Amino acid sequence: MHFPSTIKVFKLNNGISIPAVGLGVYQMPSNNQTQKVIDNALRNGYRHIDTAAIYRNEETVGMALRSSLIPREQIFVTTKLWNSDHGYDQAIKAFHKSLERLKMDYVDLFLIHWPVQGKRKETWKALETLYKDGKCRAIGVSNYMNHHLVELLDHAEIIPAANQIELHPYLFTSRIETINLCRTSGILPVAYSPLVKGLKLHDPLLMKIALKCDKSTAQLLIRWALQQGFCAIPKSAVPARVIENMKVFDFEISENDMEILNNLDENLTTGWDPATAL
Ligand SMILES: NC(=O)c1ccc[n+]([C@@H]2O[C@H](COP(=O)([O-])OP(=O)(O)OC[C@H]3O[C@@H](n4cnc5c(N)ncnc54)[C@H](OP(=O)(O)O)[C@@H]3O)[C@@H](O)[C@H]2O)c1
Repeated sequence: MHFPSTIKVFKLNNGISIPAVGLGVYQMPSNNQTQKVIDNALRNGYRHIDTAAIYRNEETVGMALRSSLIPREQIFVTTKLWNSDHGYDQAIKAFHKSLERLKMDYVDLFLIHWPVQGKRKETWKALETLYKDGKCRAIGVSNYMNHHLVELLDHAEIIPAANQIELHPYLFTSRIETINLCRTSGILPVAYSPLVKGLKLHDPLLMKIALKCDKSTAQLLIRWALQQGFCAIPKSAVPARVIENMKVFDFEISENDMEILNNLDENLTTGWDPATAL
């Protein structure tokens, strides 16, 4: 895949490029409005969309991408296998249903959405098969904590390319073991809820550092993720914010300020906490 040089990318462990900032589309309904949001994102430099079967908007994502007329190979699409579809045969079937909804021949990254206890091993085998069959350009996991990854790495034939987990300064040091294992194993951490779902955008400390950088606190949080080496997938359904969230490549957070941000941990999970998943 060849992205124009204006698209900033990270490399996955199999050599393929993933645009560093993607648009998360969780809680965006499958409708015309969402299609317009994605269309606006694509017109403003986004080339990476993060969806999931459970978001129930894969049809709209597919439609928006087709109508953009951007060549398929210049857009990176992630989707995820839902919890009720674990198991070898079921995972393969569910993947094909996602493809049908997206109306695509392949996805760029297919993830196990959640480390459901029971059939994780067979489910990963299914993803390996899909990868070998050329149905996904990369495979990975989501919400895998250190213990889930240790288990997976013990039997995996293919090392996951990415682990999508909640990451932001308020949930950083409490995830450091998982992050370090990803880093040493060549697994790219993808930061979901990088804006803490909007909960911390008025934190005075963030506001002070953002002001120094002449950026918004949302931009500061996305930039923090990038400087940590994480891919970031902020969600916004507001066109101006979608544009704002991509303007994160023209500044740098100083080492000192990174250090301050690295120490804001509150073990703050904004959704389900996978650390408690067996
Ligand atoms: N794998 C998983 O289990 C998992 C779990 C959660 C999320 N995710 C993925 O990660 C993506 C992002 O996470 P998220 O949706 O939980 O949270 P998020 O991106 O941290 O925050 C989204 C919230 O921030 C607001 N916002 C966005 N940009 C803003 C800006 N520039 N200024 C002010 N407010 C802004 C949005 O409101 P508006 O829309 O009104 O702008 C929304 O309320 C999801 O869409 C999904 O793709 C994955």
